[in-house]
Amino acid sequence: MARPDASAREGAETPQDPAGEDPGTSGAPGRAGRELRSRYTAADLGVFTGDEARRFVPRGAGDPHHDVVLAWELLYRIEPELYDRLASVERLHRDVVGWLPHGVDTIAEVGAGTGRLTMELIERGENIVAIEPAQPLRRILRRKLAAADHGDRVRVAAGFFDELPLPDDFAGLVVACSAFTPAPGHGGEAGLAEMERVCAPGGCVALIWPNHVDWLAARGYRYVSFPGPMSVEFASGQEAAELAGIFFPRAAAEVRRRGSRTVPFEVLGINPPRDLAFKVLAG
Ligand SMILES: C[S@@+](CC[C@H](N)C(=O)[O-])C[C@H]1O[C@@H](n2cnc3c(N)ncnc32)[C@H](O)[C@@H]1O
Repeated sequence: MARPDASAREGAETPQDPAGEDPGTSGAPGRAGRELRSRYTAADLGVFTGDEARRFVPRGAGDPHHDVVLAWELLYRIEPELYDRLASVERLHRDVVGWLPHGVDTIAEVGAGTGRLTMELIERGENIVAIEPAQPLRRILRRKLAAADHGDRVRVAAGFFDELPLPDDFAGLVVACSAFTPAPGHGGEAGLAEMERVCAPGGCVALIWPNHVDWLAARGYRYVSFPGPMSVEFASGQEAAELAGIFFPRAAAEVRRRGSRTVPFEVLGINPPRDLAFKVLAG
């Protein structure tokens, strides 16, 4: 299952006192070592643009200590490099990427983040548009693309699931990875309708590492999952302990005990990124 969804992550647990945790190297002053749920406060909500606030704090107020989805959105804007460190080590099952249609002229990706999937799409399409609402993540993605072979095939643009800045029938593949949920601020009915609107007849809408597979199935999406053991490959045992303390606090003690840079997804307590839901639109 993918973020952002409180039901999908260990972050649903009660915030802990971060005192005594590994101070780490990634946090802004005062945040170092804190788990995601207690890293930010309501005072940080001012980082959102008006369009973001309308979607992520629709009632005008929110508390990231009690709303882990909000904490993720703050992470993307306040500590984007920290998010990128996590996404870079949570690699997709190679068959998920292999499953995606080949030889597609135009691809649209929504919620592209720092490019975990985008970088794989470069070899799959001639023209790729990567839509991402968080400006700090767009900046990191552009940096990666500038250094990549054929990175100029990808155009990075701002946008949201429910208001895609793309014309009807635009792409043969419309895809999102670990980004879409049924919640209106993160996709919902309007977001799914938008993805289908910009998908050409006969094209494919694919949601990788999906949340709420039943919700998608009720809307005509089929499900595929690929087998095999999957682990997160951190750079070192020290990085595993640091990032587990922030993102997988329930598993942090076990990760420290193992001392290994390779940590099976089951130890972290999350489903591995081995699955997708898809719909092929009528031609
Ligand atoms: C967990 S990250 C995944 C990023 C990237 N797809 C990956 O797999 O690494 C979730 C992404 O969804 C984006 N997102 C959140 N709400 C969104 C919305 N309403 N429309 C489009 N993208 C959204 C976030 O900004 C973030 O980049």
